[in-house]
Amino acid sequence: MPDSTPLLEVHDVFAGYVKDLDILQGVNFKIYPGELVAVIGPNGAGKSTLAKTIFGLLTPHKGTIVFQGASIAGLKSDQIVQRGMGYVPQIANVFRSLTVEENLEMGAFVLGNTPLKSLKEEIFSRFPRLAERRKQQAGTLSGGERQMLAMGKALMLKPSLLLLDEPSAALSPLLVNSVFDQIRQINQAGTAIVLVEQNARKALEMSDRGYVLEAGRNRFEGRGIDLLNDPKVGELYLGATRAH
Ligand SMILES: Nc1ncnc2c1ncn2[C@@H]1O[C@H](COP(=O)(O)OP(=O)(O)OP(=O)(O)O)[C@@H](O)[C@H]1O
Ligand SMILES: [Mg+2]
Repeated sequence: MPDSTPLLEVHDVFAGYVKDLDILQGVNFKIYPGELVAVIGPNGAGKSTLAKTIFGLLTPHKGTIVFQGASIAGLKSDQIVQRGMGYVPQIANVFRSLTVEENLEMGAFVLGNTPLKSLKEEIFSRFPRLAERRKQQAGTLSGGERQMLAMGKALMLKPSLLLLDEPSAALSPLLVNSVFDQIRQINQAGTAIVLVEQNARKALEMSDRGYVLEAGRNRFEGRGIDLLNDPKVGELYLGATRAH
């Protein structure tokens, strides 16, 4: 893969929420078509800020972001969605008062009046639990179901790249496994995935490559398995118990 052209390349990006206070301080990141890449690091490292900047919710004031060969820095999220990127935010990722089915329709709002039935059915076959609950308000779903709906909503437009910000947050261990299984399957079906995770060990285990951010900068990067086995990464970011 690394000899092909990156699907997304972030180069030397500086971005933040208020003027003159950059959270990201020269971040570099890339992902190749079909890859699964983890982004880990401590609270406040800038992981979500990186995802928001890639997706056009924040505008970098320095650096470049190239997606599928074209610059997207400065574009708005709806334009970026149309180019084939999906994003599931860390919080507030579904419309709670809308039904499951309406949420999926919102995921495809940029298609206008195009019939959505077959797209919805594809999502329902991927997530049978959502099919059973299609008329239910999203606010009544369990945490795991809601996370599946958020992913389903982002998949409505068949993105070539999906950004997932902490999909396992606040889920029970059983649900974490099932959400991670879904992520693996979505990736195996051909969608490149950026997986931002607190659950760093699990994320690296299933990723082709990973990046460790700290204080808005790149700290480590490499193959998932190499990062898992790197004693420095283990001590600092993966907790006490190491693979060996
Ligand atoms: N809306 C905001 N306005 C101002 N500062 C913000 C905003 N959101 C985040 N920050 C700041 O940006 C820094 C990075 O936050 P970010 O959410 O990117 O971290 P993170 O790596 O995703 O952390 P976590 O693991 O807790 O989700 C933090 O210092 C945070 O306080
Ligand atoms: Mg975050």
